[in-house]
Amino acid sequence: MARIYVTRHLPGDAIDRLRAAHDVEVWPEDGPPPHDEFVARAREADALLTMLTERMDAAFLAEAAPLRGVANYAVGTDNVDLAAATAAGVPVGNTPDVLTDATADLAFALLLAAARRIRDADEAVRTGNWPTWSPGAFLGHDVAGATLGIVGYGRIGRAVARRGEGFGMEIVHNSRSGGTSLDELLRRCDYVSLHAPLTPDTRGLIGERELGLMKSTAILVNTARGELVQTAALERALRDGTIAGAGLDVTDPEPLPPDHPLLQAPNLTVLPHIGSATRTTREKMADMAAGNLMAALAGERMPYCANPEVYER
Ligand code: GLV
Ligand code: GLV
Repeated sequence: MARIYVTRHLPGDAIDRLRAAHDVEVWPEDGPPPHDEFVARAREADALLTMLTERMDAAFLAEAAPLRGVANYAVGTDNVDLAAATAAGVPVGNTPDVLTDATADLAFALLLAAARRIRDADEAVRTGNWPTWSPGAFLGHDVAGATLGIVGYGRIGRAVARRGEGFGMEIVHNSRSGGTSLDELLRRCDYVSLHAPLTPDTRGLIGERELGLMKSTAILVNTARGELVQTAALERALRDGTIAGAGLDVTDPEPLPPDHPLLQAPNLTVLPHIGSATRTTREKMADMAAGNLMAALAGERMPYCANPEVYER
């Protein structure tokens, strides 16, 4: 029986299955455990089931050692120093594939919301500003026939491309391994949707220069990681009309304080990082994370491991 620390309640019965085999403690609150609490619990644990809110750097991994596994409840693992985990012999699991469609759907929801000014129009109805039927009210942008640029062409990027094709869009993509150059994509596209992982190379990828390359009628969608976009530059670009709008499911910082200047920018829809938030998807993520831990604690390879090099040591 191993000791497992889980940093949030999870939907479904994955935790019960872990409990049947191991000694499991779950942080009881909705928000993340304070970092000191997390470090103290991690020191006593054999394995962790963590959210993207738990930062695990080299110092943390050294203090928490010897951990037999960390199952991150996310496809992204930018909250974990993977090289340090590998050096410490700790396999880190993630939850790819199961959240691809849910996240791609949300990216498309944001694209459509920004294109058709859904937030402004809904607001007008609620605040008594319904302009009866007016030929010039709430004019948005066409989606059919427009060009969609996908930055980061992995599972989620490709799933968004399929949706774009279904809506009659022309697709252009950029990724580490090829496609159209980022500058060319930004110049050409009517919609730009970000799907790259957060790495030292992609941090701040979209800043003032890149926004300046975009069309003044273009819309930026980000469902990947907030840190891909330079927040202050985006705020200025929306204010001065460098681009026409943005739809964000992720921001930097996160959460965004309600008085953050970005929220005063026009033509912006912001969601609180809910890309994978459907019941079925979140249950599948819980099953995958639990499966990763069960394997690690049985001395087997994690089925979904973000640092497989750890098994070559
Ligand atoms: C969510 O953002 C994830 O990486 O799963
Ligand atoms: C992830 O990183 C993906 O595109 O699934």
